[in-house]
Amino acid sequence: MDKFVIHGGNALRGEIPVNGSKNSALPALAAALLTAEPVTLHRIPHVRDIRTMQRLLVDVGAKVDIEDGAVRLEASKIVSPEAPYELVKTMRASSLVLGPLVARAGRARVSLPGGCAIGARPINLHIFGLEQLGARIEQSHGYIEAAAPNGLRGATVHFDRITVTGTEDLMMAAVLAKGETVLRNAAREPEVVDLAELLSEMGAKIEGAGTSTIRIQGVEQLGGAEHTIIPDRIEAGTFMVAGAITGGDVTVTGCNPEHVGALVAKLQQAGAEVTQTSADSVRVRAAGKLRSVDMTTEEFPGFATDLQAQYMALMTQAEGIAIIVETIFENRFMHAQEMARMGANIRVDGKQAMVAGPRALSGAGVIASDLRASASLVLAALVAKGETVIDRVYHIDRGYEKIEQKLAAAGARIERVE
Ligand code: EPZ
Repeated sequence: MDKFVIHGGNALRGEIPVNGSKNSALPALAAALLTAEPVTLHRIPHVRDIRTMQRLLVDVGAKVDIEDGAVRLEASKIVSPEAPYELVKTMRASSLVLGPLVARAGRARVSLPGGCAIGARPINLHIFGLEQLGARIEQSHGYIEAAAPNGLRGATVHFDRITVTGTEDLMMAAVLAKGETVLRNAAREPEVVDLAELLSEMGAKIEGAGTSTIRIQGVEQLGGAEHTIIPDRIEAGTFMVAGAITGGDVTVTGCNPEHVGALVAKLQQAGAEVTQTSADSVRVRAAGKLRSVDMTTEEFPGFATDLQAQYMALMTQAEGIAIIVETIFENRFMHAQEMARMGANIRVDGKQAMVAGPRALSGAGVIASDLRASASLVLAALVAKGETVIDRVYHIDRGYEKIEQKLAAAGARIERVE
């Protein structure tokens, strides 16, 4: 199992490029199951979750080719509409194939995801939505079995809680349903908008993506398309925090500044200088002291839960007390204990964490519990005195492509060891 060995203390300087969004690429890959024609996707990041999704698509019957950095998918026939436990347990986003499979093949068998390091993460809203669209759903032996032998029919689905992949799953089911589907209290994340654009390019009729009401007119069938995935806003945000926490001067390139607005506001309030240097780059400079600023995670356009851990690392270096409230997941503070082992002063009480800073961090052996927690430990290690060894970096490889090389190119002392 790989580890990262990091020696803190260097201010990061220079440009750090961003890849395509993992959380946009995952539903885009699943969407290729909706058509027999080829779908070509550009800017798919080379991360572990994407490889897992590609494996799943191959098992289902799709052909997946990687040509010149683009991924070409062709699902001329659905051979086995099933997502097995072995894949779902390693990646919960596998449930994104549920909607496309029922819509295209009339049935799907998808393993129920089990527990997760950051919260219970049920998929009851995916199931509820598909039932509204007329699918018959049964649960047995740890699997969801969905059937709609005569096709799905449009309906109004009101999500009683905002769900990102739930919105995406239902949107993919509804594009081939008969008649109109209205999704209310839908997620407004940029990844939902990107998926709607891809589906529209494939011939779907979708209005309102990016707002909380999405209207979909079902069509008989979809065709192929060629699409470029949006930049990864969480990767961009992670590098922006890397610039700020090390007192450096980092320009994050190839990103969409509109997607990181909530983080930019917090960094500015904390005393960092943030400027948009071009249509797709943001510069973060933090020469002086940082101030503590409270933060609450919210759905987009609020502050992303996927940047909460990284923000907590930043607040260990800020003057004062920051209250961080996590509203999306019930158990997403596992990094706090690891940061405490590095000398941070953090008290967690339910959904709330209180971070008192600034504290001089010292290198230690720490364990990454999930993807974003591992990113936050890398950030903490960049300012810690001495050596930090981060174990189980396979978590970080799920969502960041060559993060150690990107940070090292900006001056970080980080290496991967086996
Ligand atoms: C997506 O997960 C992202 N994953 C997550 O990114 C991200 O943290 C999350 O959205 C929130 O922004 C992908 O896009 C692949 P939700 P998702 O359904 O869709 C509850 C990362 O680090 N809920 O929006 O699974 C759920 O338990 C990952 O890249 C239900 O109760 O999240 C949570 O409390 C981690 N029933 C809340 O809603 C459901 O049926 C929001 O979850 C579905 C969700």
